[in-house]
Parts: sequence; structure tokens; C-alpha cells
Amino acid sequence: MARDQNGYAVHYKENMRRTFLLLLVSSGFFPTLPSSGKTKNKNPYDERRLLEQNKRIQRENNAPEDFPSFVREGFQVNVVTSENYVKRDSGLIYRDYEVGKGDCPKDGQQVTFHYVGYNESGRRIDSTYLQGSPAKIRMGTKGLVPGFEEGILDMRPGGKRRIIIPPELGPPVGPSTFFSAKQFEVFDVELLSIQNCERRTIVGFYSDVVCN
Ligand SMILES: *[C@@H]1O[C@H](CO)[C@@H](O)[C@H](O)[C@H]1NC(C)=O
Repeated sequence: MARDQNGYAVHYKENMRRTFLLLLVSSGFFPTLPSSGKTKNKNPYDERRLLEQNKRIQRENNAPEDFPSFVREGFQVNVVTSENYVKRDSGLIYRDYEVGKGDCPKDGQQVTFHYVGYNESGRRIDSTYLQGSPAKIRMGTKGLVPGFEEGILDMRPGGKRRIIIPPELGPPVGPSTFFSAKQFEVFDVELLSIQNCERRTIVGFYSDVVCN
């Protein structure tokens, strides 16, 4: 169903846009980075300076409260968050604002949710609130990037959570999107409701899935 593809298409488009930006950045910025290969001598002053720089960029981008900082040192990324965040073994980092009530979604069920997506600078990239209608995705159908699905899997209706998706749990990447593999994504998600779905066969040869 076209609707099932919705979230995926959105992230994919975003991915392309970002790749473009990163390709521009990579030609000018990376070569001037002081960190060279193996000598990883962390200077606490540099770290603090990078963090301050990061916070300034976030303010310019109107990043929301308690937004994480992504401090890059060569190809390493240090995700700096407040203590309100939980880090999973998978690499997913999240913070619950509201826990919600009821059951968590199961594979095959449809989740209806709002989200606001941000890039590492805290710039809002995408918002279903602004689009005017929530996203609907069936769980367990690979309609979402893995980190997003993992982040929603243990949410409950009414729950509000910020999810930080590391590159390895992000959108699939190929050669043309190589640089985007290095990017984190941040989403503020509000799980509105969960629907049961069933397959319905119409006149014997065509079937679809209805959720309500
Ligand atoms: C976030 O998006 C803004 C606006 O498009 C852009 O200027 C900035 O470079 C982006 N940050 C990253 C880390 O991609």
C-alpha cells in the first residue's frame, strides 16, 4: 500500500538531500581537519571548544531543548547527551518524555505516529505535524529504517520519545550514499495509536491489507 511506503519515502528523500550536502562538505571541510589518522590525542580544550561550537550551531538551527551534540573527530563521532538519555547495546539512544499507556505494537500491526526529524545540527528536516497528517506504518514489514522501528517497538500509545539513530541503524546505504552512512538522525516521535491489520481477499485473485 502506498501509505505503508510513506515514512520510508520521506527518509529516503531526506537521505538524498543530505548526501548532496555532505558531498559538498567533504570536499572542503574534511581535508582541513587537524586529526590525522592514528594519532588520537584528545585535547580536552578542543573537545570543549567543539562542544561549544556545536551548541552555537544548534541555537542557530532552533534545535529543541536537550538536543544531543555530535562531536566529530576525524571519522569518530562522540554523541554527547544529558543523563536523561538511555543508550542501548544496539547503539540506539533515546529519551522518553511520556511513557504512554497500553500495549506495545507487535509485528503486523500498524502504528500511527507523528514525528519531527532533525539532522545532526538540530535543524528540523521533516515534520508530520507540518504536513498535517500522521505517518502510518506496519511493523515488521521493513517499511521503516531499522533504528526507527526499534525505537517505536517498545513505545505505548500516547508515548513521546526522542530517538537518536546511529548510522548503522539508519537507512540502507549504497555507494552513492556513502557519506550519509556517517550521519546520525534524531526523531521526536509521538505514538498516537496502534491498529490491527488483516489480509482481505477480493474476488479471489487480488488481496490487500486493511488496518483499523
Ligand atoms: C542540517 O541542515 C542544515 C540546513 O539544511 C544544513 O545547513 C546543515 O549543514 C545540516 N547539518 C548536517 C550535519 O548535515
